[in-house]
Amino acid sequence: METVLVVGSTGHIGIAAIQAVLHSGRNVLAIVRNQDSAKKLSQHISEGLERVTTVEASVVSDRGVQDVVDKVRTGALPAFQHVFSSVGGNYTEQGMLETTTEELRQIMNQNFESNFFAYRATVPYLLEQKTACSWTICTGGQGDIGVRPLPAMTQGALYSFSYSACKALASTNVRFNEIYLAIRVEVDVDAEQHGVMKSSVFGRVYEKILATPGMKSCRIRVKAEEDVENLKVEQK
Ligand SMILES: NC(=O)c1ccc[n+]([C@@H]2O[C@H](COP(=O)([O-])OP(=O)(O)OC[C@H]3O[C@@H](n4cnc5c(N)ncnc54)[C@H](OP(=O)(O)O)[C@@H]3O)[C@@H](O)[C@H]2O)c1
Repeated sequence: METVLVVGSTGHIGIAAIQAVLHSGRNVLAIVRNQDSAKKLSQHISEGLERVTTVEASVVSDRGVQDVVDKVRTGALPAFQHVFSSVGGNYTEQGMLETTTEELRQIMNQNFESNFFAYRATVPYLLEQKTACSWTICTGGQGDIGVRPLPAMTQGALYSFSYSACKALASTNVRFNEIYLAIRVEVDVDAEQHGVMKSSVFGRVYEKILATPGMKSCRIRVKAEEDVENLKVEQK
């Protein structure tokens, strides 16, 4: 049985990924900030929770995910073959001129560096597996819109990160893909209230990526519900 390591697991997008992984019959190793945060998993995941292992780590620190990988290597945590990363969620409207150096560094750390740290910690482990592995990230359309400058800049950095990762892993056993999301997604109960896309619906995109071994070095654009059924896939 394969296992997917989910980073940012307690967010709207992380929960979508977990729903997809469980539906695909795989297990989940979910990194959580603390036990309070972990409660979101039992609140929003109705089936298959017994196949989710949680581990606490600080994903915004450069050692957080590395410590998890080290524990996997000792056998204290389940081995994994796939990684899904969507740490972030800071969607402030604050303008650039009102932003202090500390605030800029804080949002880059939360929305960008955390995903980079996850990549740097997990890719060497996946390369060692020599079997079919994957690494998937969810970026946001705000990077091309620019109305919210700070989230926009973090997404711009993630686009370049994704492009570089596609190139770096192109000829390896690890297929990298970027889901470019340009529509609001929330956990089902919130989505119903706010009239946005449900995590359980969006999760199907990741389920299809997992089920399609030939999908590699791609950007999958999602900007409407129909894009979940008919994936818009661009080769990078
Ligand atoms: N939701 C959308 O509609 C949407 C649209 C486009 C793109 N995206 C992409 O997906 C990313 C995540 O969005 P989301 O809606 O899932 O955000 P979210 O619901 O706020 O979740 C963010 C995740 O990151 C974790 N996290 C954030 N700051 C942290 C910190 N300082 N320390 C430890 N963990 C931290 C959160 O943990 P806690 O639960 O413990 O806070 C949570 O697991 C965005 O940044 C963006 O790249 C989302």
